[in-house]
Formats: sequence, structure tokens, C-alpha cells
Amino acid sequence: MESCVRLAVTTPLDPSAAILARARASADRRALPFHPRSNRSLAQVAASAGADALLVLGAHAALWTDGAEQRWHAGMGSLRAKRLAQGETTTSDSFLQSARLRPGDAVLDGTLGLGADALVAAAAVGPGGRVVGLESSPLLAAWAGEGLARHPDPAAARIEVFAADHAAWLDAAPDRSFDVVVFDPMFRHARAAEPSFDLLRRIGDARPLSLAAVDRARRVARRGVLVKDGAPGWDLARLGLAPMDSRRGAQRLYAWLDAT
Ligand SMILES: C[S@@+](CC[C@H](N)C(=O)[O-])C[C@H]1O[C@@H](n2cnc3c(N)ncnc32)[C@H](O)[C@@H]1O
Repeated sequence: MESCVRLAVTTPLDPSAAILARARASADRRALPFHPRSNRSLAQVAASAGADALLVLGAHAALWTDGAEQRWHAGMGSLRAKRLAQGETTTSDSFLQSARLRPGDAVLDGTLGLGADALVAAAAVGPGGRVVGLESSPLLAAWAGEGLARHPDPAAARIEVFAADHAAWLDAAPDRSFDVVVFDPMFRHARAAEPSFDLLRRIGDARPLSLAAVDRARRVARRGVLVKDGAPGWDLARLGLAPMDSRRGAQRLYAWLDAT
């Protein structure tokens, strides 16, 4: 579906003038066709637009595909970012503890997905920091980008989203241009998940992380590269990476590689 998906933008029913203008502007910025909702069902909008999927842009960003509408949200990412903003330390978040992010850091998230980890990273690095998120699925990049742009946490607005393959993007990136690069590729085994994560699994790029991409990331990083995997860590093993110590029964495992 993904490479040839025809995506269009519309709004919820009865949009205000401000919502309509913002949705149109998003469509223009992304070079996507805009189709007014005009009191029609999303299936009717998609049919008349000749689209397989719709970004439904209102106060929230929803994705309509295969007959179902799913609102973007960052899942636990929102709560994790909020806890940080309320002064909780990074040691309570295994991702942050493993990535050792500091205020002011520049972070490259090579597998943005729905942007939960990027949101937490943006909260951790603060207003003086920078987070760039790369997502190879254009559909996910557009959905997450619009969702983050509408998220009330100011950290979300600091995330720059690009629809790009991390291997090609890293190849063109200057040496030592980010403090930390993180990868959270699609896990090979299915886990129970909420609907938006099921959708991510369905439309996300399932290619395994390559050692070549990890090597490029080590050149682009100033401190190092973090690779996340689901327990028991099959992908880390495939890449020859040793997981860091984690608490007993942890569902996520992390490997750290120093920058080259
Ligand atoms: C497990 S999800 C990441 C979830 C993310 N950490 C979050 O917090 O929402 C992996 C994502 O990486 C994307 N991806 C896979 N290979 C990629 C590549 N070569 N370049 C960029 N993105 C890629 C997939 O499309 C998917 O959306």
C-alpha cells in the first residue's frame, strides 16, 4: 500500500474558518490535494478524490484508511514528556536513561513512527535543544508531523519531521552533526498494542535496521547511537550488538555504540 498510496487532505465535519485555513495550508505545504468535507462521509471524500487514505485535519490529526479513522496520539509519549516537564528525572524513563540526553542536545530519531520517543527526547533536551525525526513511510511522516504540530506540549513543536529513509539521509549528513542518534526499528515479533500502534505496524516500513545505517549514524553522532529492540533482543543479536543491563523482565532492550 505504502509506496503508491494516494493521500489527500480534508477536515472534520463543519470546520471553523481557522481549521479550514490551517488544513488547506498543511495540504499546500505537503503538496497534497485538499478536498473540502462538504458534509460528506470520509468514504465519499476519498472516492471523489481518488484517494486511498485521508489526513483529516482539525483540532487533531486523524488518518482515514481502509474505512477506519484513527486519531494521532503519542501514546505514553505524552505522559512521559509531561512527567519530565513536571521535574521527574530521566532515570525513570528507560529510553532517556539509555540515551543519556542532556538539555541543549541535538537528537536525530532515525525511526520516528508516531513520534512518542521524539516527543520525550524534545522534552528532555528542552528549548535549547533540537530533535529531528526521520520517517520513511510518507503516510506516517505526514500523520505524525500534523499530529505533533497540534499537540499541546510545546516540546512537540520543536520536532522537525522529514519523510526520508534514514540510510540515505545519514549518508548526506555532516560528521558529528547530532549529539545522539536513536533507532527504534519495527520489532519482528507482534505485541499486543492499541489501535494506532496496530496501524503503525501495518503501514510502517518493516525493513530491518542495517549495520550500514548504524555505522553512518556513528559518524553523524558526537556522543553515540542508541538502538532499541523488543525483548528478547533478536534484532540486536542479528546486528551483533550487546544489550545494556536492564531490569529483570524489561520489554525493551537498548544497545549503545560510541560515536566513531
Ligand atoms: C517501531 S516504529 C518507531 C516508533 C517510535 N519510536 C515512536 O515512539 O513512535 C519504527 C518506525 O521506523 C520507520 N522506519 C523503518 N525503517 C526506516 C528507515 N530506513 N528510515 C526511516 N524510517 C524507517 C517505520 O516506518 C516505523 O514508523
